[in-house]
Amino acid sequence: MDWGLKNRLTNIIKPGTGRTVMLAVDHGYFLGPTTGLEDIKATTEPLLEYADTLMLTRGALRNCVSPEIDVPIVLRVSGGTSVLQDDLSNEELTVSMQDALRLNVSGVALSIFVGAENEKQTLANMATLIDEAEDFGIPVLAVTAVGKDMVRDARYIGLATRIAGEMGAHIVKTYYCDGFEKVVRSSLVPVVIAGGKKIEEKDALELAYNAIQAGAIGVDMGRNIFQSVAPVAMIRAVREVVHNDEKPDKAYDLFNTLKNAKG
Ligand code: R5P
Repeated sequence: MDWGLKNRLTNIIKPGTGRTVMLAVDHGYFLGPTTGLEDIKATTEPLLEYADTLMLTRGALRNCVSPEIDVPIVLRVSGGTSVLQDDLSNEELTVSMQDALRLNVSGVALSIFVGAENEKQTLANMATLIDEAEDFGIPVLAVTAVGKDMVRDARYIGLATRIAGEMGAHIVKTYYCDGFEKVVRSSLVPVVIAGGKKIEEKDALELAYNAIQAGAIGVDMGRNIFQSVAPVAMIRAVREVVHNDEKPDKAYDLFNTLKNAKG
């Protein structure tokens, strides 16, 4: 592995623990101004010091994030279909590698839609992106998007995760499911989980804990942090689960303590 690629991966996956808390705020690329991200700058600023990585789009980065931050960026580089479509899988690559380099990113991310109408197109997008990104030592994070018709079980998640690794993705972001150990065991590369739709804070911490204990190296979490009643308290509690193997009930106590703390 070349030095640049390794160095960028180290920016994303913290060497101290081998884990990462990625803050995902890229949802607008197909959802528009989703709840909590109407004002990306206001939402992300207080969270940045607790995020190992910030995942977002080119437009959000340029317009809502100061270039003076020292949080590594993972840039979303696929899109092309809005939430108004029934089938979200019709994605293309949306950012050139030159622009990703200009933006000094530590990684690029795209969605693949295994089992969906445009499966082949999105896998081809991934192959193209990996070839282009590797020319410049930029790691690729593959997001296994799950279509409405797909069952989120270990068989399906394991299939999509393995395909991403086989094709050369450096990290896979997927969804937690029962039997997640099998998904991780058969993955060729490190796995992080998405948080998914907003659930109770206690349940989200348990989800993160279960994923980590099953072998995930971290979370790439959005709504369960920025839609929380106390986003800073939540990301700090998530960090404890991810980096210190904190148990969910203890992490939830920490969340409540921080939430209720004055100032
Ligand atoms: C999905 O469209 C985006 O890649 C999100 O970044 C991803 O789903 C993670 O966010 P959340 O934790 O809100 O699911």
